[in-house]
Amino acid sequence: MPTLSARGLAVPPSPIRKLVPLADAAKARGVKVFHLNIGQPDIETPAVMRDALRSFDEKVVAYSPSGGTDALRRTLLDYYAGIGVPLSPDQLLVTTGGSEAIHFGMAAAMDPGDVILVPDPMYANYISLAAVLGVTIVPVPTKVEDGYRLPLDWEPYLTPKVKGVLLCNPSNPTGAVYSADELQAVVDFVIRHDLYLFADEVYREFVYEGPLPPSLLTVPALGDRLVVVDSLSKRYSLCGARVGCLVTRNAGIAAGAMRLAQARLSPPLFAQLLGSKATALAADYFDETRETYRRRRDIVVDALQAMPGVVVARPEGAFYCMARLPVDDAEAFARFMLESFSHEGHTTMVAPGGGFYAQEGRGRDEVRIAYVLDEGELRQAMECLRLGLEAYNNR
Ligand SMILES: Cc1ncc(COP(=O)(O)O)c(C=O)c1O
Repeated sequence: MPTLSARGLAVPPSPIRKLVPLADAAKARGVKVFHLNIGQPDIETPAVMRDALRSFDEKVVAYSPSGGTDALRRTLLDYYAGIGVPLSPDQLLVTTGGSEAIHFGMAAAMDPGDVILVPDPMYANYISLAAVLGVTIVPVPTKVEDGYRLPLDWEPYLTPKVKGVLLCNPSNPTGAVYSADELQAVVDFVIRHDLYLFADEVYREFVYEGPLPPSLLTVPALGDRLVVVDSLSKRYSLCGARVGCLVTRNAGIAAGAMRLAQARLSPPLFAQLLGSKATALAADYFDETRETYRRRRDIVVDALQAMPGVVVARPEGAFYCMARLPVDDAEAFARFMLESFSHEGHTTMVAPGGGFYAQEGRGRDEVRIAYVLDEGELRQAMECLRLGLEAYNNR
């Protein structure tokens, strides 16, 4: 038998999804599972988008252009102009979710063996996608005690192999929103050392303290070293549609990403149809969503902080937090919650924290929690977590 590829074997299972069979088994036993393991919002997808799908009346479901349909591209270019980022059409590529934008951006810019610096903990799929591409992630440690602040001095992380920095702002999984000073330090570092900066801004609108931070695309000095990953998944509760985009002023990366896009033919047509309706949404569309998440955040964080031995920082953005639990092994605890625990017929599913760290050994007593359910359910989910912790530690 031929061997399996080393790169395929290096891809870890997703910490967000690997316990799903246990959740399915719990549901089969009649237990209701509160899914705090995955960033799947319960917010209604705007009706204008759902209606667009119903009124589709083409006789052929055809391929679209590799870079996206004209209608969606116009919508996205308008959206960017609205946030102070005028783009020319060749600077934007429609992708199959932000996931594909990360993949294409990294593939176009990085060779196997190149190093990318990423604040740790990080969105777990960065680790998987880097493994596929043979790119080495060097984790830049951040910690709950100071709210996951970034270093102001990046020089200690520089080696000859470093080719870029990847930032997620607001951050999944920590909920950190980086200050102007923190961002300036990264900007100065990448310019000083001629590096790429990958900015994952898929949670751009989800900021709960102060004004929305400007996109890094508004920083002229970054010029063609910036690659921005964006997605409609969270912004419009369109996760299942699979649509996002890659934005860069780097003509070489844009052209490379386009060649990759041509190799996968086109982004999904229906997703683009839905996404193109974003122009019909009211200017204050995000205000209500933002308030909803702010309240949910406070319910979850207040409940966690009241649990003995739990350490958590109040997230400033996105809709996640990392919580340190008083357990020996957070994955064993997450399994226990699904296999052996229920309270009034309910249990809570969380994502084991270790999978969000590139640094071996970190996150073993942490979980990532997504506050994506309504307030009543979140309260119940937190009560299950509190009682589950007691039961786990007394077993
Ligand atoms: C930080 C971050 N980037 C990218 C993605 C990819 O999202 P999608 O492929 O659905 O656009 C996600 C999804 O959770 C995310 O949290």
